Amino acid sequence: METKQESCRLPRNGKRVILFPLPYQGHINPMLQLASVLYSKGFSITIIHTNLNPLNACNYPHFEFHSISASLSETEASTEDMVAILIALNAKCVVPFWDCLVKLTSISNVQEDSFACIITDPLWYFVHAVANDFKLPTIILQTSSVSAYLAFAAYPILREKCYLPIQAMVSLIKASSGIIWNSYRELEQVELTTIHHQYFSIPVFPIGPFHKYFPASSSSLLSQDESCISWLDKHAPKSVIYVSFGSVVNIDETEFLEIAWGLANSRVPFLWVVRPGLVREAEWLELLPTGFVEMLDGRGHIVKWAPQQEVLAHPAVGGFLTHGGWNSTLESICEGVPMICQPYLGDQMVNARYISHVWRLGLHLDGNVERREIEIAVRRVMIETEGQEMRERILYSKEKANLCLKPGGSSYQSLERLIDHILSF
Ligand code: UDX
Repeated sequence: METKQESCRLPRNGKRVILFPLPYQGHINPMLQLASVLYSKGFSITIIHTNLNPLNACNYPHFEFHSISASLSETEASTEDMVAILIALNAKCVVPFWDCLVKLTSISNVQEDSFACIITDPLWYFVHAVANDFKLPTIILQTSSVSAYLAFAAYPILREKCYLPIQAMVSLIKASSGIIWNSYRELEQVELTTIHHQYFSIPVFPIGPFHKYFPASSSSLLSQDESCISWLDKHAPKSVIYVSFGSVVNIDETEFLEIAWGLANSRVPFLWVVRPGLVREAEWLELLPTGFVEMLDGRGHIVKWAPQQEVLAHPAVGGFLTHGGWNSTLESICEGVPMICQPYLGDQMVNARYISHVWRLGLHLDGNVERREIEIAVRRVMIETEGQEMRERILYSKEKANLCLKPGGSSYQSLERLIDHILSF
């Protein structure tokens, strides 16, 4: 890792950008990756984060961190209702965020850098109004796919009912000075063109996939179990299915057992991330039948949290049973690993549909979670020719993702435009 002294030697451009991630892993990773990209282009970086899921500042010695208190009650913080949490977070963070900006802008008079803009997650829908008071432009970082955004923005019932955060998110986007997308033109060409027509006056910057610039591991809230890699080392190429449902999904006991038996019955070796909290009312694995792990005879390895990017890049991994979170989707595409999507909430539904029906890079399980369905899907992707065909298509997408970041590539050019845009503030 770069030391503070080394990083200070990199040329700075005199502009400081404030970034405000939503305090959840799937939102933190792309925001911190973007911060590292902007830092590498000469911008100084200030991160405002909350005391809910606080970030480890030690991993970023060259950034300035400011913590604000979200002061959620234990009940508010532990509810599974994401919309309720978002409403509470937005309500509770307005004043602390405002106070933080007062402090930052008053010291900015004595700092070398001038504040250029605030880059915020669109689910922080109060930010634009506060930033306006400080005459700071806002740029949105969309951590989900363009396709998912368009699906939500077009969904009439949600709009009519002003179902949060969608309506507020659309308004925030319309008021912003730009939208950065963790996506790339070759993957979402049609959808990006639609966005351009809908919001023609707002510049759009598809500069992804972010994890190809900087890995997600340094912003991981949980420690990653490295035993995954030595376990994978013992397996033949493309023989293991990796299973993970990201950082926010919760499942019940029945679903947990159906997944466990589906994996076991497929006879395909599996690496499964069972995050503490994944299974409602369970500490970790205690709901598995007695003798289940022993019965697998080494064919399954279960961990609490994995070094996901390294796992997907490992030659032994041949498929990914995923919830279809956008970061996981991009990470899988970039390693050429076909997916089986079992989506649970929000954008995951749209991502799963695109993965299966539009890009044809995987399967979509869209009924109840059932062991027989999982067993069949795992075998289709891992053993049958259908899986081989998906692998060929996904390798093509992987190649496109690599090319778009190279000089002259679509994301490379969008990043150059973004830098000019921020420098113009
Ligand atoms: C959430 C939503 O689920 C997702 O749909 C939305 O796009 C962003 O917010 P999350 O559920 O965490 O995100 O899924 P995902 O977007 O896939 O992000 C998970 C991140 O955690 C990935 O960067 C992944 O590499 C990392 N991860 C996951 C690990 O580092 N280790 C693990 O064991 C599992």
